[in-house]
Amino acid sequence: MNRGPTKLAYAHRHLLAIEGLEPAEIAHLLDLAESYVLLNRSGQTARDLLRGKTLINLFFEDSTRTRTSFELAGKRLGADVINMSVATSSVNKGETLLDTAATLNAMQCDLLAVRHAQSGAPSLLAQKVGAAVINAGDGMHEHPTQALLDALTIRRRKGRLEGLNVAICGDIAHSRVARSNIHLLTAMGGHVRLVGPPNLLPAGIEELGAAVFHDMKSGLAEADIVMMLRLQRERMTGGEVPSAREFFRFFGLDSEKLAYARPDALVMHPGPMNRGVEIESRVADDPERSVIGEQVEMGVAVRMAVLDTLARGPRRNI
Ligand code: NCD
Repeated sequence: MNRGPTKLAYAHRHLLAIEGLEPAEIAHLLDLAESYVLLNRSGQTARDLLRGKTLINLFFEDSTRTRTSFELAGKRLGADVINMSVATSSVNKGETLLDTAATLNAMQCDLLAVRHAQSGAPSLLAQKVGAAVINAGDGMHEHPTQALLDALTIRRRKGRLEGLNVAICGDIAHSRVARSNIHLLTAMGGHVRLVGPPNLLPAGIEELGAAVFHDMKSGLAEADIVMMLRLQRERMTGGEVPSAREFFRFFGLDSEKLAYARPDALVMHPGPMNRGVEIESRVADDPERSVIGEQVEMGVAVRMAVLDTLARGPRRNI
């Protein structure tokens, strides 16, 4: 297959965050992912590419889409994939993150996808392991592969990222998805509008280059993309949201509120969705407007592009 752009287009050993990446590096990953969309749709695989390499999925938090798509991405490129989840690992027996790193080094893994409740855990591991580390979501910090798959979905549908108005709505405060998307979209010339109640919008978030709105009508005006986020109750300390029903009334996406956006605006959601809380089923399942299923498909292609790119670097011995 066509291997896409040249090697040096991505100048890092790991993928820990979108913040700090150059637009050209983001574009490189998206272009390469584009070629993997075509490969996946053709029903073929590229099993020679990562043959002999090992990918470990180290998930300290629950995940459905992200873990399975890393697994599928690794397997489609021929890597040996091992899933380690907290429930079955020694972390439950009191092992520290650094002891885990030492174990992983002894196993000589090449690629490590890490999800952790603590912001910064993947970058700490990256300093201690020989493998290339991919942040699969850390606390409220970043979820870079999610932002890349969102961008790929948007770019394929709208033909560009530059100049688009993207409204990200709901629980911004607890969302690593929102943070990675803000960094990516602003780096690529998009306009981000954050919409939610004041207590779910962190103070100073405008400094990242996004506009802030506290009602759906003004927030969705001129929006090309409406991205809905789940209320992440597991990260809340209590009292942030009065009730799911009240939240839906003001901030839940239904057909009436979607009509505030552009007539061709697309609806996105990273999943898992809470139907009837941040989004109603009629909108989520509308094939004319919703690209939620496509986001999952793009997730596999983006993770193949990231694994392919990072696997080109040498494994360090630590
Ligand atoms: C998101 C996550 O884990 O950050 N889910 C995902 O990766 N698709 C969003 C969420 O949990 O709400």
